[in-house]
Amino acid sequence: MGQLDGRTALVTGATSGIGLAAARRLAAEGAHVFLTGRRQRALDEAVASIGDRATGVRADVSDPDDLDRLFAVIGQQDRGLDIVFANAGGGEFAALPDITWQHYADTFNTNVGGTLFTVQKALPLLRPGASIILTSSNIDTKGAASFSVYAATKAAIRSFTRSWAAELVDRGVRVNSIAPGPIETPGLSGLAGDPTAAEQLLKGLAAGVPMNRLGSPEEIAGTVLFLASDASSYMTGAEIYVDGGASQI
Ligand SMILES: NC(=O)c1ccc[n+]([C@@H]2O[C@H](COP(=O)([O-])OP(=O)(O)OC[C@H]3O[C@@H](n4cnc5c(N)ncnc54)[C@H](OP(=O)(O)O)[C@@H]3O)[C@@H](O)[C@H]2O)c1
Repeated sequence: MGQLDGRTALVTGATSGIGLAAARRLAAEGAHVFLTGRRQRALDEAVASIGDRATGVRADVSDPDDLDRLFAVIGQQDRGLDIVFANAGGGEFAALPDITWQHYADTFNTNVGGTLFTVQKALPLLRPGASIILTSSNIDTKGAASFSVYAATKAAIRSFTRSWAAELVDRGVRVNSIAPGPIETPGLSGLAGDPTAAEQLLKGLAAGVPMNRLGSPEEIAGTVLFLASDASSYMTGAEIYVDGGASQI
């Protein structure tokens, strides 16, 4: 018996990193999981690594037509949705003088707009007791030089969590977010320009964590499972920091 037997989940940004680990964990606990991402080959590989409990739908969360197509596919399966992990996102370093309208628009359209319209379009499919989980970041309450646009998108996610929890509580739908610290994913390494710079970046980030290491995607997946399952049935509007203590001690 899995904790999520008979349930259906959507994980956006499931072609790598945190989303892929979460999709694997939810499927291992018995859920049928819809995975999305923009890269078809990576999506096919992710689905193949999970097997029968996975369905892949290529979709860019910043593209309204892609989102309509994604939810049409999920709707056709007639399963409804019990779990939505709106996780797709990313960012790039840019110091204040270097921020362009394009950088701002790309980051906000993916992280904020993508999360907003994923959740909005999921609403008609949500079953009673559904759990919505958003990916923020522990940067959402701290300043971060050269990362201000990304940090602002994650502060917006923190705010969405509270407002949507208030809006959906009467439907019995819970909304919570996870604030990861530095997690060893392609997205984190990709912030650096080359492998040497990436190694330095990861080393520096690990040194800033009280546990003195980076987190793994599987450690975030464990928190996704907790928020998706009945173990967190009395939680809504909350944010869980999974960051080796970085924002707490
Ligand atoms: N790693 C960390 O240290 C860390 C810390 C705090 C928060 N986070 C957050 O965690 C989430 C996952 O990041 P990660 O570290 O796992 O990075 P990752 O390995 O780069 O994964 C990002 C995922 O999002 C997808 N994605 C990006 N833009 C998308 C778009 N426009 N439409 C659809 N899918 C899109 C990517 O798929 P495709 O490339 O196939 O589109 C990929 O599956 C992000 O929201 C990130 O901000 C990460």
